[in-house]
Amino acid sequence: MKPLTTAILAVACVLAPFQVFAQAIGTIANAPQDGDLNGSNFTYPWPVKLFQFSSQLQDVEMAFMDVNPAGEPNGRVAVCLHGKNFCAATWESTARILADQGYRVILIDQIGFCKSTKPKSYQYTLQQLSYNTNSLLHALGIANITLIGHSLGGMTSIRYGLLYPETINELVLVNPIGLEDWKALGVPYRNIETLYAAEAVSNYTTIRAYQQVTYYVNTWDASYDVWVNMLANIYAGTEAPTFAFDQALTTDMALSAPVVYEFGLLKPRTLLMIGDRDNTALGKQWSPPEVQGKLGHYDVLGKQAAAAMPNADLIEFPDLGHAPQIQDPDGFHAKLLGWLST
Ligand SMILES: *[C@@H]1O[C@H](CO)[C@@H](O)[C@H](O)[C@H]1NC(C)=O
Ligand SMILES: *[C@@H]1O[C@H](CO)[C@@H](O)[C@H](O)[C@H]1NC(C)=O
Ligand SMILES: *[C@@H]1O[C@H](CO)[C@@H](O)[C@H](O)[C@H]1NC(C)=O
Ligand SMILES: *[C@@H]1O[C@H](CO)[C@@H](O)[C@H](O)[C@H]1NC(C)=O
Repeated sequence: MKPLTTAILAVACVLAPFQVFAQAIGTIANAPQDGDLNGSNFTYPWPVKLFQFSSQLQDVEMAFMDVNPAGEPNGRVAVCLHGKNFCAATWESTARILADQGYRVILIDQIGFCKSTKPKSYQYTLQQLSYNTNSLLHALGIANITLIGHSLGGMTSIRYGLLYPETINELVLVNPIGLEDWKALGVPYRNIETLYAAEAVSNYTTIRAYQQVTYYVNTWDASYDVWVNMLANIYAGTEAPTFAFDQALTTDMALSAPVVYEFGLLKPRTLLMIGDRDNTALGKQWSPPEVQGKLGHYDVLGKQAAAAMPNADLIEFPDLGHAPQIQDPDGFHAKLLGWLST
């Protein structure tokens, strides 16, 4: 054996035992409840905690809320993952309803988003976001979860379900993105500088215009404004340029990392909750018309995904868009609780 190979093997043998414990590294701290936290000035409904750990040779913090059961505890833990244009706080009404049912509810801001660290540079992958989430759960001593993900959080939840199936009691995907491979359907590549330039000019007007046509079936209700303002606050906040850059990186991540080819491998009991009138598709805005026409047909995509996943149920909302939990909270939560109780 060549000396170099021997040396590499020796290092691998020394490191291997520590890798088992790597996920436990990190500490939990309380965050200030009011004011700016990593570029977000939005006040969250429960105390914010920080999971402080080292990732990719940087010190980072993931902000999260840990909501106690409000009713008789049922011994279960629900973990909710936000979409790209949302935050942990967007899950407030869902968390209250689950807590009333006896769930402990963990609401997470992913690295790069909302109240979590905005790295100047980070190798975003769905695996890394899943690993970070799993590491937090290790630090909290939580073994099994009900994982609920919306939009990009749904796509991340699919990856999480592929990586850590043994930890998932059930998986709920609310209008997840990634039910198709946009680049394979013809979405042209956009470099990160160009994505960044578009992110950097985001404000209330641009965010609302996008969400109205893409998420909310061309309608608008005053109750949607809070989430637009929450996001516009970060784009205008103390970490604005870094946030815009991180958002460009996460768009590139989602475009580059399809999950659709692995649906057949997804083991957990799964529920797809799909607003059929959603037309979200990454890159649609910069695609030629013939490509645009192929993208984001959730009335078709939901059925295809449910058929491809071995253990999935499908609940469709024919008149709702990308965020059924925001557009029709009562209808959405009734269906969610109904499925969870079966
Ligand atoms: C946060 O919001 C409050 C209330 O709107 C404001 O007084 C404060 O200056 C803001 N802080 C930052 C850092 O944006
Ligand atoms: C926010 O993030 C930075 C690093 O990205 C970190 O140094 C800082 O402590 C974080 N928290 C606050 C409260 O600023
Ligand atoms: C966790 O979930 C897995 C998969 O559903 C199951 O086999 C296991 O018994 C569960 N463990 C606990 C402690 O509930
Ligand atoms: C957002 O930016 C656009 C153009 O960059 C501008 O026309 C619009 O007034 C801005 N909206 C807000 C709320 O600042």
